[in-house]
Amino acid sequence: MLLVDLKKKYDFYLRNKFSKLEIQFFFKILVKKYLQEDPIIILSKPETKINKKKVEFFFSALKDLKNNKPIQYILKEVYFCDKKFILNEFVLIPRPETEELVNWFLENHNEKYFEKTILDIGTGSGCIPISIKLKRSNWRVESIDISEKCINLAKINAKKHSVEVNFQKRDILNIENWDNKLDYIISNPPYVAKFQKKDMDLNVLNYEPKSAIFVENDDPLIFYRNIIDFAERNLKKKGYLYIEINPLFCNDIKMLFERSNLEIKKIKKDFFEKKRFIKAKKNR
Ligand SMILES: C[S@@+](CC[C@H](N)C(=O)[O-])C[C@H]1O[C@@H](n2cnc3c(N)ncnc32)[C@H](O)[C@@H]1O
Repeated sequence: MLLVDLKKKYDFYLRNKFSKLEIQFFFKILVKKYLQEDPIIILSKPETKINKKKVEFFFSALKDLKNNKPIQYILKEVYFCDKKFILNEFVLIPRPETEELVNWFLENHNEKYFEKTILDIGTGSGCIPISIKLKRSNWRVESIDISEKCINLAKINAKKHSVEVNFQKRDILNIENWDNKLDYIISNPPYVAKFQKKDMDLNVLNYEPKSAIFVENDDPLIFYRNIIDFAERNLKKKGYLYIEINPLFCNDIKMLFERSNLEIKKIKKDFFEKKRFIKAKKNR
């Protein structure tokens, strides 16, 4: 089949689901991935012949896109903080907001040559701890997740980037003892209340792991309560907690901090002007 004909199939079968620009975007990255070619060939060499095996890849991706599968799961990879991470459907697709959290943290804590210890809660693909370890190679970086599948994938990603992160399968809602005192804790925990499902896209609802995203309507702050409690016990004095939040519950989360020995230093808005991140310090 010719590249130009393949492109026509994409335009035709996806026309009711995506804009022309979106289809073009998907097609370009699939050309890059499956043909290992610069997507410019879509215009410069439209008569390029695509072999049967590769046509099958393109058709399979087309079917997935029609069924709302996120492109990141089709490609089985995603970029986070300029690095490529392997992805599968057992882990959340890392979001640009979380890159903002990591960059904010790194800007504020530039102690490259000191041996600091940081724990990331809710590993997922390993994007947060691996990105931090890549920039702070002297630090001890730890990361926990309740899901063994997340831990396994995160270990693969750490190996891919040749960094050492201590991953452990642990449940932050049932964690009694922790071995070492921490300078920093960072987390992007599950925080979307189930009642918010009605406003969400099908690609998220049908494909991303529910346990990574949702919390019960009757206790949407469960992770914040437990993480603050954990931070009170395990952060060093003058240690910091950085956490991504659901803007809808910002005031309730503020109240949780007010009842703790962690003092909020800043509530930061994300790129979309939503209150999305909190930085808090353990004073006592
Ligand atoms: C919002 S995702 C964040 C994943 C990754 N850090 C990121 O930003 O892309 C939340 C993660 O918390 C994990 N998780 C859910 N419940 C947990 C628990 N009780 N203890 C530890 N981790 C948990 C999920 O498996 C998921 O990987």
